[in-house]
Amino acid sequence: MHNKISALLSEVEEFTSDSAQKVEEFRVKLLGKKGDLTLLFEEFKQVSGEAKRELGQKINELKSRALSRISELKQALESESAPAALTLDVSRPGTAGCIGTRHPIATVRSEILAIFRQLGFTVAEGPEIEDDWHVFGALNFPPEHPARDMQDTFFIEKKEDSENPILLRTHTSSIQVRVMEKSQPPIRIVCPGRVFRNEAISARAHCMFHQVEGLYVDQNVSFADLKQTLLYFAREMFGADVEIRLRPSFFPFTEPSAEMDVSCSICGGKGCNICKGTGWLEVGGCGLVDQNVLDSCKIDSQKYSGFAFGMGVERIAMLKYQARDLRLYFENDVRFLRQFTAVV
Ligand code: PHE
Repeated sequence: MHNKISALLSEVEEFTSDSAQKVEEFRVKLLGKKGDLTLLFEEFKQVSGEAKRELGQKINELKSRALSRISELKQALESESAPAALTLDVSRPGTAGCIGTRHPIATVRSEILAIFRQLGFTVAEGPEIEDDWHVFGALNFPPEHPARDMQDTFFIEKKEDSENPILLRTHTSSIQVRVMEKSQPPIRIVCPGRVFRNEAISARAHCMFHQVEGLYVDQNVSFADLKQTLLYFAREMFGADVEIRLRPSFFPFTEPSAEMDVSCSICGGKGCNICKGTGWLEVGGCGLVDQNVLDSCKIDSQKYSGFAFGMGVERIAMLKYQARDLRLYFENDVRFLRQFTAVV
């Protein structure tokens, strides 16, 4: 009997099957009415004396091992055929969370400000809803002067008799006025912000965009200071070998005034489709602060002089990323935004 028991035990240990039917057949073979174990129990009844205790223990062990082996196999087969949703594979990689990226306009804005900070400029901000005085009046735009048409304005409140209507700022020069009204030179500020102009939306124009303007007022500030500041900025922003070019222009608040171009960093100035074959890219306007502006802000124009400049953040982003449809920067399509991973 000992031999039979150990033979059946190894049969139980070795048995395996991927078919539920085979497992059931094996159960019947062992534990059915005429099963091996049933017959063994019959045989056991005949045993007497000393051997009975030891044999009984062994047969019981065999039986419980057989029962647990069969239920193990049945369970394994049941969970395999269960629907996928009920099975959990803890070894599979998890779903990564999306933490987002910085908007390209925010990145470029930070880069511009960081460059001017190196030169000792501090950042000044102001309201988007402004009055006529801070956007036009103090900046030497006489009432009804055609220069006001350069910046098509959204008026919020324009009463016939109002001398100072409320409007959306068309440039961040209004911040410069606010700072000059409240402080005396030396003044060295950069003014980032959102501005609004009543323009039809297209790939090249939008009713809303971002600017960074700058102002430096002190004794003996000259056009040479302006040129060097802009050259330093251009080389930090676009590369050590870019050149700048200033073209005569007109703004009511600066005299003399200029448009600033940088040599095209894409073709190195040879001419390509980005710079439309000219080798130059327009970046913004600049000039020496008009004496009338200093006077309006109660700064002594006999003692002090200053320079100012302004540039469009989208324009610089377009040059940097070569994504040339302005609308892309405002639509917030994640397929566009996901391409910018720079963190500043
Ligand atoms: N404020 C001007 C604009 O928005 C830019 C500028 C700023 C020009 C300072 C000259 C000096 O177009």
